[in-house]
Amino acid sequence: MARGIMDLERAHLFQNYARYPVVLERGKGSYVFDTQGRRYLDLITGIGVNALGHAHPRIMKVIREQSSRLIHSSNLYYHPYQGRLAERLTKMSGLDRVFFANTGTEAAEFALKIARAHGRSIHPQKYEIVSLDNSFHGRTLGALSITGQPKYRTDFEPLLPGVKFVPINDTAALEAAVNERTAGIFLELIQGEGGIFPLTHEYVLKARELADRHGALLVADETQCGVGRPGRYFAYQLATSPIVPDVIYAAKPVACGIPLGFVIASERAAAAIKPGMHGSTFGGGPLACRVSLEFLDILEELLPSIQEKGGYFKSRLEDLARKHACVKEVRGFGLMLGMELTIPGKQIVLDAISAGLMINCTHETILRFLPAYIITEAEIERGIKILDKLLRKADSAR
Ligand SMILES: Cc1ncc(COP(=O)(O)O)c(C=O)c1O
Repeated sequence: MARGIMDLERAHLFQNYARYPVVLERGKGSYVFDTQGRRYLDLITGIGVNALGHAHPRIMKVIREQSSRLIHSSNLYYHPYQGRLAERLTKMSGLDRVFFANTGTEAAEFALKIARAHGRSIHPQKYEIVSLDNSFHGRTLGALSITGQPKYRTDFEPLLPGVKFVPINDTAALEAAVNERTAGIFLELIQGEGGIFPLTHEYVLKARELADRHGALLVADETQCGVGRPGRYFAYQLATSPIVPDVIYAAKPVACGIPLGFVIASERAAAAIKPGMHGSTFGGGPLACRVSLEFLDILEELLPSIQEKGGYFKSRLEDLARKHACVKEVRGFGLMLGMELTIPGKQIVLDAISAGLMINCTHETILRFLPAYIITEAEIERGIKILDKLLRKADSAR
């Protein structure tokens, strides 16, 4: 059966994904099950989307109720949940105005349009964007234009003009790149796809200063590092004196697998967007918004435990790093963790699947862990035990 499903896809789908040879059928909590009934501990959760694990009873209940009432209404009309969710997000972030999209890349597109419109409202030549090397902001052409990784960009060039890339945590390079023509500085507080690289407080502070000095917007992409994953609502809130961006955007876990993304902006940044300048057919539909409200209620209860469990997971990964020569470093905050290897990680990911563990490898050598916020210590231990064995095998094969 699994073979037939894979062959059918191979015959009819674009071959843009390099899938692992597993056909998933269902999930429960931190586990997923394939069509053969095999169980896997899920430490990647659909790349950070299934934040409450699989089949969470409260999320299922809300989906059931709302899908029998109204799934979609378009943005021609009001529904009861968009305003409530927007209010909630402004309270969580300290910013003022919200737009709903469906995905991270779409949210990035609107953030870019805000920066461009903001710049243009000051001067027609104020359209440059400063972004970071090794960043990832999405696959649409705008988001790709500010993604600092040639492997994603090259086939589609030329992309948007006026984008400068600077190395992360290099304040001098950042200072040299930002000027009066800069409309926005885009950054991920913790680079995710790039391999779990946190920005230093000093660097973010410099970005804030430069944005203020040159009338540019500071934009934080919290798609992977935010919405509870770092143990705070947003990664910029990890600092003891948080540096508040002008614009934040996110997607992934926001509605636990129902597509939903958002952009939150300060009143000053939002002022550049006038009626008719942006929109979305699906964005902020009643089902997605209602699920998201339920998710945020649950997140409030879970937030203190995310830092605690993340700290525990990180310390156990560090134990493995001390034990295994093939591990170079462990990085990350909360439940967004990475383990950099001295060897390619692909075989470890494949061996992990055979051993009943779902993890992911980014940038060839960095194992990435984005578990569900409901993960237990016992489940973390189970993952560590499997990893320990896999790393031992990798050590001996070196
Ligand atoms: C930081 C960041 N921004 C944007 C995106 C794009 O999100 P999506 O795949 O939902 O378009 C991702 C996806 O991994 C991401 O990690």
